Amino acid sequence: MSVKLLFFAGSKREASLNKRLAKAASIKAAEFGAEVTFIDLKDFDMPIYCGDLEKNEGLPEAATSLAELVKSHDGVFIASPEYNSSISPLLKNTLDWVSRIRTDETPPRTPWQEAKVFAIGGTSMGLMGGLRGIQLLSALLINGYQVNVLPQTVAVGKGHEVLSEDGSISNPQSEAMLIGAMKAFVETATKLKSA
Ligand SMILES: Cc1cc2nc3c(=O)[nH]c(=O)nc-3n(C[C@H](O)[C@H](O)[C@H](O)COP(=O)(O)O)c2cc1C
Repeated sequence: MSVKLLFFAGSKREASLNKRLAKAASIKAAEFGAEVTFIDLKDFDMPIYCGDLEKNEGLPEAATSLAELVKSHDGVFIASPEYNSSISPLLKNTLDWVSRIRTDETPPRTPWQEAKVFAIGGTSMGLMGGLRGIQLLSALLINGYQVNVLPQTVAVGKGHEVLSEDGSISNPQSEAMLIGAMKAFVETATKLKSA
């Protein structure tokens, strides 16, 4: 049985380069036999997290529906925009709301931890492709959300020149990096699913 992998970007901007990267990654993973789902965070709108809001109104419906999607997949790929060497507030807010949901109590587990492995990448118009934000996201996912992160990350520099809306990549080096990472992502998710 093929593995199910979820792909999204930490940007809901219409012309988002990271959405293009997430789409390109989903196409490559499908070529390695994965069943892929691409989602747009604009369809999972959540207010900025506030403890009072959670106490008085509960979880946003978008957080519970995203949690259900995460739980029904074996792995998650995130294409992360770099904002001032960090991740986008949209991505952090989304990660935090979903982390308020428990799939188990002893020890406490979140929906993110039900995904067997995370793969991450990012792109920007600069040469580094948002590498500093990607490194920070890796540390956040491991230390904060306590999930497994694939070591093969993908930073696509000059994303506006390299990535097309249809998911094609014009730079052979960036494409090779993405292929290598998606091969490892599918293989790792497959191994962990059958373990
Ligand atoms: C507040 C802010 C901070 C940014 N900081 C960086 C940065 O540190 N490094 C970088 O390469 N690009 C930076 N950018 C540019 C974004 O990476 C670029 O706009 C990117 O295309 C955003 O991702 P998206 O296209 O997926 O929406 C920044 C943009 C904004 C709005």
